Amino acid sequence: MNKPRVFVARIIPEAGLNMVLDTCDAEIWPDELPPPSNILLEKVRGMQGILSLLTDRIDGEVMDAAGPQLKIISNYAVGFDNIDIEAASERGILVGNTPGILTETTADLAFTLLMSGARRIVEGSDYIRAGRWKTFKPMELLGLDIHHATLGIIGMGRIGIELARRAKGFDMEVIYFDHRRRPEKGDSVGAKMCHSLDELLAQADFISLHVPLTTETHHLIDATALGKMKRTAILINTSRGQVVDSDALYEALHSGKITYAALDVTDPEPLPPDHKLLTLPNCLVVPHIGSASVATRNKMAVMAAENLVAGVSGQIPPHIVKLPA
Ligand code: DGY
Repeated sequence: MNKPRVFVARIIPEAGLNMVLDTCDAEIWPDELPPPSNILLEKVRGMQGILSLLTDRIDGEVMDAAGPQLKIISNYAVGFDNIDIEAASERGILVGNTPGILTETTADLAFTLLMSGARRIVEGSDYIRAGRWKTFKPMELLGLDIHHATLGIIGMGRIGIELARRAKGFDMEVIYFDHRRRPEKGDSVGAKMCHSLDELLAQADFISLHVPLTTETHHLIDATALGKMKRTAILINTSRGQVVDSDALYEALHSGKITYAALDVTDPEPLPPDHKLLTLPNCLVVPHIGSASVATRNKMAVMAAENLVAGVSGQIPPHIVKLPA
């Protein structure tokens, strides 16, 4: 019997790749960079499944280029803003993602960024490498206390909750704002729900973003929102770059409206090395590594492969994205 044909848009960890190769006739994109959009249109032709990454835009055009036999798009990510879910649903194509398994790893990174910003870790390291460490100085590289400070979490989903747990271990006060108003979420971790975003922005010393990218959250953190934060505030983003208006953030950091930003995700992404945000000493940027631990990336590969294999075999994949009700 012929194996189902699938296109795998990048080399993923072996644990998942081997599962795909065992069951499917797979074409794997070998390059480090994503397939350019015109090539993607060619590569997906005749495929029953696509394993995509968050860097691959999968819209109706790609789905139609694949053809009516396309059964599943399995995203190697929990986020799925790169996929037109409505277009997939109209065409009866399933979309899979990788929820749950990267929650704690991403929360770990958000807390790492929080601590790095508060205690100016990267600036300290750069200071030494620049030969500026001459002696112990009472006033040099002073940062902010983490303990007993207020952490504001925007989006109290799985990752937000895990971040709250970490913060509690540091005796932080945790407040949150969630568009879906979920008081029970905060109760489970001793966090206090704010009734408006403004309330959170005004109170928090650290603000961490954990919302999906939607039309509602695009530029949620704009000049107005930044203007409502404390001057000492530190902003942490491990969600999606476009939740923050990069120009407004540059302005706020440059003019001292807020103190620091620590970003795992940016807009644009990747951030070009000559981008103005990278000229600021009070902006730390890492290259979208929220889920980047060996164990978690392996689990993501297995879950994405399970979704793909189930989808092309006519079974219900274990993790499918549902259209919002
Ligand atoms: C995701 O899964 O959405 C992250 O951004 C990458 O792991």
